[in-house]
Amino acid sequence: MGLSADNNERAVFATKFGAVATTVGSAVGLGNIWRFPYEAGIHGGGAFMICYLAFVFMIGIPLLCAEFCIGRGTRSNIFGAYRKLRPDRNWHFAGYIGILASILILSFYSVVAGWTIEYCLSSLFGQLDFSDTQTGHGQFVNLTTGWRPVIWTFVFLMCNFIILIGGVTKGIERASNILMPLFFILLAAFCINSFTLPGFKEGVTFLFKPDFSKISPSVLLGALGQAFFSLSLGLGCMMTYASYFNKDNRLGKTAVTTAVLDSSVAILAGIVIFPAVFSFGISPEAGPTLVFEVLPYIFSRFPGGAAWSTLFFLLLFLASLTSTVSMSEISITYFCEEKRWSRKKATVVSSAIGAVGGLLCALSFGPLNHLKISGMTFFDMFDYLSSNICLPIGGMICSIFTGWLINKRFVKDELTDNGKHRFRLLSLLLFFLRWICPAAIFLIFLNSIGII
Ligand code: TRP
Repeated sequence: MGLSADNNERAVFATKFGAVATTVGSAVGLGNIWRFPYEAGIHGGGAFMICYLAFVFMIGIPLLCAEFCIGRGTRSNIFGAYRKLRPDRNWHFAGYIGILASILILSFYSVVAGWTIEYCLSSLFGQLDFSDTQTGHGQFVNLTTGWRPVIWTFVFLMCNFIILIGGVTKGIERASNILMPLFFILLAAFCINSFTLPGFKEGVTFLFKPDFSKISPSVLLGALGQAFFSLSLGLGCMMTYASYFNKDNRLGKTAVTTAVLDSSVAILAGIVIFPAVFSFGISPEAGPTLVFEVLPYIFSRFPGGAAWSTLFFLLLFLASLTSTVSMSEISITYFCEEKRWSRKKATVVSSAIGAVGGLLCALSFGPLNHLKISGMTFFDMFDYLSSNICLPIGGMICSIFTGWLINKRFVKDELTDNGKHRFRLLSLLLFFLRWICPAAIFLIFLNSIGII
């Protein structure tokens, strides 16, 4: 595939497998391994899990179908797509929310991806201590406060930049086709290790046993945000990727595959993290640092812990890259196709904006730790604003647009490949897009600001 192709000439994924693999590559990333466990930890475990899964299936899959239809049907970026379908209205303004969110996400995401580089290299050079179970928090503080994380954030953004500009997407795609299954296997191995931990039962109960009394407005909003974040929904990312899909891609199937694989990885990560959390006496409510504090304990139980750790963080770094490449595409395609900039200029400008945001977020754990806006550091604020506000709003617009404003025939033709296959659930899908998705998102918003 050539996401890096000249901007006048729209690239297409070479194979169906490549298309699905890249879409899953966008979805699977830090959202599953880092964000899901920490959000579940803050929001009471099982209660969060059940809401999250409900949202993935009730809102996530219909919206994936909607983004896929719009993207492939128009073969445009989010702005062009909305404009092509409804030239008479300003629906394409949804694109600005998408660009804003993609830049906010890129900023804090790069910081966490920078931690993975730092952990990977520290394990490789034997600087991460796996012997003492008391040092997880200390090591995290050591590695991530001060100015050091700024360097790693920039190193990560640089890698992202090189892939975007150098057109080595093919390389990374091929690499991730091999490495992502490997990552899955490694995660499964750690999962098996979890069974042998003393806190296994407690961890699994925490994660899977819903305590319905814990479902609160913030749990609902958090789970909604996580579902959007993890599936790369709401800012036109999946729309842009679908614009590179071939005609023979069965959109409904691709949507279900993406959602199932993505949530499986998140659940696996939960099974790896929570038994360890309870075994080593860490608070599940530790927040964004949770996974980085817990993982070294897990590796310490394996012979050759440093090698496992190096491999794990290397794969996590690569999984993050396939995600940031996808989110960067939003602003790059905007600049290229709407503003007629060269791909080089678009990439430089969006990376530079990401670097400024990344700087603010990287310093949030050190020098800017005390600078808070309504109790949140820049890092927390960027995450909250993008995941819990911008993505659901973008999703709501997309849902209303697809359900009510575009021709039903268009949606049907896309889903059935002009009648070549059957898509039996069309009416159900449209019902969800018209009523259930917008209403659920709207009610969760009202609920979270205390109106209902
Ligand atoms: N889904 C990715 C993850 O889980 C992150 C991501 C990539 C994303 N592209 C996105 C999130 C677009 C929101 C929107 O790590």
